Amino acid sequence: MTNAEMLLPHAALARALQEKILAKLPLALAKGRALNFIPYTVRDGEWAEGPFDRICWWTNGFWPALMWEAYLLTGEEPYRLEAQRAEEMLDEAFRDIDHLHHDVGFMWLISAGAQYRLLGTDASRKRMLLAANLLAGRFNPAGFIRAWNGEENAGWAIIDSMMNLSLLYHATDLTGDPRFASIAMRHADTAMRCFIRPDGSSNHIVVFDPRTMAVLDTPAGQGCAPGSQWSRGQAWALYGFTLSHLHTGRADYLATARLVADHFIAMAKQNDWVPKCDFCQSPDDPLVDACAGAIAASGLIELARASGDPRYCDSGAHILRALDERCSDWSASSPAILTRCTGSYHGNDHEIAMVYADFFYVEAVRKLLGDSFLFW
Ligand code: GLY
Repeated sequence: MTNAEMLLPHAALARALQEKILAKLPLALAKGRALNFIPYTVRDGEWAEGPFDRICWWTNGFWPALMWEAYLLTGEEPYRLEAQRAEEMLDEAFRDIDHLHHDVGFMWLISAGAQYRLLGTDASRKRMLLAANLLAGRFNPAGFIRAWNGEENAGWAIIDSMMNLSLLYHATDLTGDPRFASIAMRHADTAMRCFIRPDGSSNHIVVFDPRTMAVLDTPAGQGCAPGSQWSRGQAWALYGFTLSHLHTGRADYLATARLVADHFIAMAKQNDWVPKCDFCQSPDDPLVDACAGAIAASGLIELARASGDPRYCDSGAHILRALDERCSDWSASSPAILTRCTGSYHGNDHEIAMVYADFFYVEAVRKLLGDSFLFW
């Protein structure tokens, strides 16, 4: 089916959500534009920053990315100016190498990368390529991009990194140098082999022997228990394999994205389309992660476009509707849209707003409206 045919049944939902988003984004901007930090969550009705790592906090690219989303939806200059101001604030992170990590794609692909691709800004191209070199530098030639820092983590890889691979694919497109894409594919191949289980669920973390690639452990990570299914990790896998397919044309990445998506859909349906924080948590445990839902919705709409299968678009729309009805704050009392996001199952950040949840929500709605610009 064509993308336009798949989107047609959801046109009224897309327009209704667009209207609500356009009414809310001016408040997000008004409360964010004068800050000397980059918003992460909301406390007492005001934007608040990430809990540690200051400018290197891994979600800091999502604020400028949200502003680019707003600019794409409205064409209004104040959003562009705030996206550019935040991108410049991020330059300080390039000088804090001890705190930079595997999430440099989240930080620079959707901020500088978006600006370069939308406006052709040369300084943004340089930032994007510097970030791609930092990510490539984290590659262990045994076959994976390592997560986090410190000697004790030398063999750690996480499913989240599937989303950062797009930075490397774009770097190859920009420079003509195949090394970046080849690192991305080596990592994706490892993730396909060592993270994804036969039922379509994924480990969050795999600990390898950094020399031999022997699997040493698969800890719970941000999920509830070893062997469990942290829903945001499942969403990163769904969207990440879809993106690796889009950048490489490889059928095995598409098949993996579909396997993960089918499992995600079955699990999300069990809770009326708002994903539990971990698909293996106790059935009486009500903890959800609206952010996992927003990431998955955007990934599913992309997967529908890539595969021509309308079930994925329909499921993405179900999630967006459920998030609107049960996990959103459209009032003026908070600058953020989504509520009920979870940092990690065992952490303290439960039932909070998160700037990246709003980014993926707005991205998904923009796709449902038929816009095809892809930040990734
Ligand atoms: N990349 C970490 C997270 O999803 O919380």
